[in-house]
This record gives sequence, C-alpha cells and structure tokens, in this order.
Amino acid sequence: MRHATLAGRTMAFADHGDRPPLLLVHGFPLDHSLWLPQLDALSATRRVIAPDLAGFGATGGAGHESLDGHADDLAALLDHLGIDRAVVNGLSMGGYIAFAFWRRHRARVAGLVLTCTRAAADSEAARAGRYQSIVSIEADGVGPLADAMVPKLVTPAAPADVRSMVDAMVRRQPARGVADALRAMSARPDSTPDLAGITVPTLVVAGADDVIVPAAEAAAMAAAIPGAGLVTIPGAGHLANLEEPGAYNAALRAFLERVDATV
Ligand code: MLT
Repeated sequence: MRHATLAGRTMAFADHGDRPPLLLVHGFPLDHSLWLPQLDALSATRRVIAPDLAGFGATGGAGHESLDGHADDLAALLDHLGIDRAVVNGLSMGGYIAFAFWRRHRARVAGLVLTCTRAAADSEAARAGRYQSIVSIEADGVGPLADAMVPKLVTPAAPADVRSMVDAMVRRQPARGVADALRAMSARPDSTPDLAGITVPTLVVAGADDVIVPAAEAAAMAAAIPGAGLVTIPGAGHLANLEEPGAYNAALRAFLERVDATV
C-alpha cells in the first residue's frame, strides 16, 4: 500500500502497474481488497489505483457527511499522483461516489464503469434501515452488520474462501467509518437525472444473482445512459468482480480497450 496526505488526512491506496489509469472505488462496508482480482489481472496493462476510502481500511479515521467528500478525496488523490483523467469504476457505494465524482469532476473522467450499483437515492424504508444499523453499530460494533450483510454480498454458491475473505473484510472495518458511510449514503441525491447527460464511454456491470441491486434495475440504468454497454455476469452476486473474476475481468478489459481507442 502507498500513502498520501491529502488535506490533512492520510489516504492509503494500492497503486499497481503503469498507465493508462483505472481508479477502483470500493463498496460498503469494504476496502480496497475488494479489488484484489483486478489489481492482479489488470496491472500488466494499466495503472490500477484502489484507495481505502475515508473511514475504511488502512485509511480509517472519520468518513464524510456526504459522498461528495469521498469524490473530492479521489480528485485530490489523482492530483497527488499527477493523473489528469482516469477510467472510474465504482461498485455499489463506489458507484454512488462515481456519480458524485461525475457531477463534481467530470473533466477527470475518461470512462465510467458502474458495477452492481444504482442511480436512485434511498427510499424512506432504506433510510430507516440505515439509522437502525447505525444504532446497532454504535452499541455492538460491526459484527451484527457482518452477520446480516455477508449472505447478501455473495451468493450461496460462492466458494468458501471468497465468503470468508468478504466476512473478514467487513469485520475489520472501523465502526466509526461504517456509521459515517451509512449516514452519507442515506443523504445521497438521486442520480437518475444525471444519466442522460453522461457523455463518456460507460459500462454497466450487473450480477445476475445480485440481491442488493437486481440485474433488471442495473439494465434500466444502462438503458438511460447514452451508448452505455451492459454486461450481466452469470452466477455472480453483489460482488461480481470477486465472485466471478474471470468473466468480470474479460468484460472490463474489453471496455477499457474501447476507451483506449477513443483517446
Ligand atoms: C454496497 O455494496 O456498497 C452497499 O450495498 C450499498 C448500499 O448499502 O446501498
């Protein structure tokens, strides 16, 4: 892991390979290790950067009240690395942050990959669930959240080593950062109005068996983005990149080659 001090906060990030840059934004309540199969497979042909977002992993500390703060951290990280534009790939919460990044820093986006994510804001019921989780985390730590979430993050058919890796990843996240992210996600705006104005090459990736973001919802989002591609990964749940890395990496590689051809 490398470290960069950005606006008084030290951010930890993996940085493998050489250009062109691909920025990988992890989901909730995870860290950069979500992307290990992509760091391994893609760094032979590009520079793969995967931070631990504020509040998570080796970055830790406080999170942000708004996902905009995470988007601004990513822009500051690119500044620090001397990178003007990158393909930005966000999974789930990482996708919400990718939308915020698009709104705030679109000149820095060479292409977008929206993995197992949605454009809609939280429903009232989803917000209420997040507040309950915050109360539980503040009382009992992240263990109960891990018990509830891990079975939704991966399919029942996931290999035992993948399931235990995800379980350990969730359990090691700092309670404060997890609670801060729940608050920030509950406050996020609806990104649906932004979809028609996305002008960079975009790929939507769905897990066919994702129970958090149904594949049909991801398909509807792809249809609303001009020219976006859609790949639905058979046998994959919410963490499609980790559960089916072969199919996921093939889809990502094909998309990145298409982006390379446009610049
Ligand atoms: C994620 O995987 O990042 C979360 O499921 C997103 C969410 O809770 O909305």
